[in-house]
Amino acid sequence: MDNNHLGETLLPLAPKNGRRVLFFPYPLQGHISPMLNLANLLHSKGFTITIIHTNLNSPNQSDYPHFTFRPFDDGFPPYSKGWQLATLCSRCVEPFRECLAQIFLSDHTAPEGERESIACLIADGLWNFLGAAVYNFKLPMIVLRTGNMSNIVANVKLPCFIEKGYFDHTKEGSKLEAAVPEFPTIKFKDILKTYGSNPKAICETLTALLKEMRASSGVIWNSCKELEQSELQMICKEFPVPHFLIGPLHKYFPASSSSLVAHDPSSISWLNSKAPNSVLYVSFGSISSMDEAEFLETAWGLANSMQQFLWVVRPGSVRGSQWLESLPDGFIDKLDGRGHIVKWAPQQEVLAHQATGGFWTHCGWNSTLESMCEGVPMICSHGIMDQPINARYVTDVWKVGIELEKGFDSEEIKMAIRRLMVDKEGQEIRERSSRLKESLSNCLKQGGSSHDSVESLVDHILSF
Ligand code: UDX
Repeated sequence: MDNNHLGETLLPLAPKNGRRVLFFPYPLQGHISPMLNLANLLHSKGFTITIIHTNLNSPNQSDYPHFTFRPFDDGFPPYSKGWQLATLCSRCVEPFRECLAQIFLSDHTAPEGERESIACLIADGLWNFLGAAVYNFKLPMIVLRTGNMSNIVANVKLPCFIEKGYFDHTKEGSKLEAAVPEFPTIKFKDILKTYGSNPKAICETLTALLKEMRASSGVIWNSCKELEQSELQMICKEFPVPHFLIGPLHKYFPASSSSLVAHDPSSISWLNSKAPNSVLYVSFGSISSMDEAEFLETAWGLANSMQQFLWVVRPGSVRGSQWLESLPDGFIDKLDGRGHIVKWAPQQEVLAHQATGGFWTHCGWNSTLESMCEGVPMICSHGIMDQPINARYVTDVWKVGIELEKGFDSEEIKMAIRRLMVDKEGQEIRERSSRLKESLSNCLKQGGSSHDSVESLVDHILSF
């Protein structure tokens, strides 16, 4: 096999090493992409790859002819929405175990010379039941954290936040802006947004996940030392297993595709006619949604900024609407060609395009990393889960973006866009973004931190 279908790569293809690695992605776009990028990376290092996956949001097998796929029935229709982590995990326990048993059986009964000993399972850090399953098969498990370390630092400290009553007191306005004493990089308002109104229930779920991580044979991070050196020290103390910071994973094989939805090619043809750094790209990831009022505030903020924009509106992402029908009549005509709206864009290509000068994002970790890798400054609209803490790091630690404080408010949106796209402040952020891009690109090259971590990871897997 050659490297052609892996796209342009930083890595030569190593000869097969006779070891098979099993992968088990979590069925969301933001989790499937880094897992399949990691599988491609280890394939290039000589490993044979088997992907175990749910029928729900199953990856597109035709993009990966060099992998073996082992689907199992989780009881959900293929593209169902609104399912919860706990329900999905409980439905997967038994079919996953059976799938694993079949893989071991077929390996055992394969003709001599075709057997490849199974080295380990690499599983997404959101699965909460795998420790027991792999124990029965004496199979080492490595956890892939598709997000960053700073969020895990906060998760570890969550019981302490609850005990100290932070979720009771933070409702006082003055305290929201203050730094959290146990984690001064973040603010009280960040932990409130992250853990919401029911921190005790979230804490219970997270504790189970962290326990799996602590008992694992190692953790792989889609992050790098250049971004999270100080968080790494705390993580190593808390989780005394080997840690491999090998990100940004999407940059090893820039042309590889793991999109669950077809990209609209008009995104790029529209950008091709625009001047450098003149377009704001707007996208809020693969699962977020907004109500009609927020959608209209977004639309007017974009329109009134008088800047050009490429806006991804996923069908169904405006609650109660199919797609764009809640826009006022004549809205698009009044833009006079300044705006282009698509259902799904080739995001990495859009961010790499010279016309793209800013990214208004929800700060999902993949979007954040993809933007930083292309040196594109951000406007951060943080939502839930890991996004508020990602946004805090973007604005206050790496200083490559500005924060929207009020949620979806057209006046604030308009001003933020102008600050980023027109004002001197935006130019300074763009310069910092370019420097960060350079440093992220270097960490993947020979002698770079992520490059070296990949080599350690390969040795670690071969040692099983
Ligand atoms: C989810 C969580 O929301 C996020 O916070 C967590 O870090 C990962 O899981 P999601 O909301 O989809 O992910 O956001 P994100 O992590 O940014 O992933 C979205 C992916 O979809 C990115 O890789 C992006 O390139 C891709 N995308 C998005 C497209 O290819 N086209 C689009 O139009 C929009």
